[in-house]
Amino acid sequence: MSRAFRVIVLISGRGSNMMSLVENAQDYEVISVISDNAQAAGLSYAKGKGIPAKAFDRSEFENRKAQRKAIFDYVQSLKPDLIALAGFMQIVDAAIVDSIYGKLINIHPALLPAYPGLHTHERALAAKDKFHGCTVHFVDSGVDTGPIIAQGKVAIEESDSEDSLAARILKIEHQIYPWCCNTIAKGELRLVDRKVNFSEKAALEAEKRGFITP
Ligand code: GRF
Repeated sequence: MSRAFRVIVLISGRGSNMMSLVENAQDYEVISVISDNAQAAGLSYAKGKGIPAKAFDRSEFENRKAQRKAIFDYVQSLKPDLIALAGFMQIVDAAIVDSIYGKLINIHPALLPAYPGLHTHERALAAKDKFHGCTVHFVDSGVDTGPIIAQGKVAIEESDSEDSLAARILKIEHQIYPWCCNTIAKGELRLVDRKVNFSEKAALEAEKRGFITP
């Protein structure tokens, strides 16, 4: 049997996307869960599943840059095929991103390029948008600007609050993120420069699941 496709998941807190990545791993294996916060709830879940989980707490480092360097040195030492940011609340330094471009992906709770950064649900509601959603993308050196892999879209209802909207989108996040990882692991999705190419089979599958692909 060929070697498993190795995925590392980086978290900072709750870790519900990480859990979904673990539970829906078909064509990849989550080999490690890493957090920049020793209190992250997701760490105990990973340990309970027998997945090596490690915290690089801010308190152990002089500054955040040093913390990120230690995290990514460790990540690289594990020789992953893919690194999935899942609620990892730091902007990865350009030099690090450049050295792993194409292997680093993120999930963002908005229909990028709309609403990069924080408070996306609040901003979509304030703008009275008709639609909102989530995006899985390759990470480049900008903030939430990397090549888009797939998006999940929901209609905003008049009765929506930030919480109801966030909950509806989170459900889609939990489906789309593992689907993207499985698709990458199967080699059905490739990044060429800044362009994401899907196999015909994967593009059809995305459509069937209601995901938008480039
Ligand atoms: C998710 O909404 C994700 O899109 C964003 O941060 C949140 C993390 O939630 N990047 P969780 O820790 O995965 O539950």
